[in-house]
Amino acid sequence: SKHKYVLIESHDKVGLITLNRPKALNALSTDLFHELNDVLEKFDNDPNVGAIVITGSERAFAAGADIKEMVDKTFAQVYKKNFLGDWGKINGIKKPIIAAVNGFALGGGCELAMSCDIIYAGENAKFGQPEIKLGVIPGAGGTQRLTRAIGKSKAMEIILSGRNFTAQEAEKWGLVSKVLPVDKVLEEAIKLGQEIASFSQPSIQAAKESVNQAYELSLNEGNHFERRLFYGLFSLRDKKEGMEAFLEKRDAKWTNE
Ligand code: HXC
Repeated sequence: SKHKYVLIESHDKVGLITLNRPKALNALSTDLFHELNDVLEKFDNDPNVGAIVITGSERAFAAGADIKEMVDKTFAQVYKKNFLGDWGKINGIKKPIIAAVNGFALGGGCELAMSCDIIYAGENAKFGQPEIKLGVIPGAGGTQRLTRAIGKSKAMEIILSGRNFTAQEAEKWGLVSKVLPVDKVLEEAIKLGQEIASFSQPSIQAAKESVNQAYELSLNEGNHFERRLFYGLFSLRDKKEGMEAFLEKRDAKWTNE
């Protein structure tokens, strides 16, 4: 593989990306992020892929942005070079992305997990935004996504104290959808991905797009956006096929058109 920091596999229609920088606990360097973006784009454009899973190791999903890379950078450098600009690309990926998190998901690692559409966590997972301990603040959406996910008081407490929180807390607060035994997280994430990938791709894409608008639009506008997409799906062969299959009591044969 031409990639140094990520491993790539396919599991039926699920594209699996494993962050692979074990000595640095998968610290998210610019080089790692370039590779991650490259693979995300490849999977997004691959008609045989219906969902994507991102995982790390049992010890660490990712322990944050690479502190060694940041320590000597100046304001002028990060500003002029749009440092961390690469981190926005994941937000434009059309296919569902599931984070399978074991171990540390700290700082940028927590933010990467929150940039995914669904998070499954292992019992030992530790989330947190410890940037305050480094004299900075979260820089890849942590103050925004964590607050939307778990509310102001808890988000403030976590971001201002730099304290970690557990998988069980994350589930209770609605940040992750499932806590699983460590050795089951990836397997269950892939299974979920396969379930998602078994449906018609345009409807899955529309569903993801519409849910994401819930964070951007008023309720009225969001409902309107949803209705437009819903109507639009009636132009697809797969809408007719899905409904006919139901009425004929058989499985649908999707064409993704
Ligand atoms: C660079 C890192 C790193 C990181 C760990 N390492 N996290 N290197 N950047 N974020 C390296 C360590 O330097 C060490 O390298 C090796 O990984 C193993 O880490 P240890 O600290 O020895 O392991 P352990 O004692 O088990 O502690 C694990 C840990 C701790 C609690 C996760 O490593 C830790 O606190 N890491 C930093 C977490 C953090 O502050 N993250 C936020 C980063 S800022 P050597 O060479 O010594 O063996 C951030 C900003 C986001 O993410 C802004 C937007 C992206």
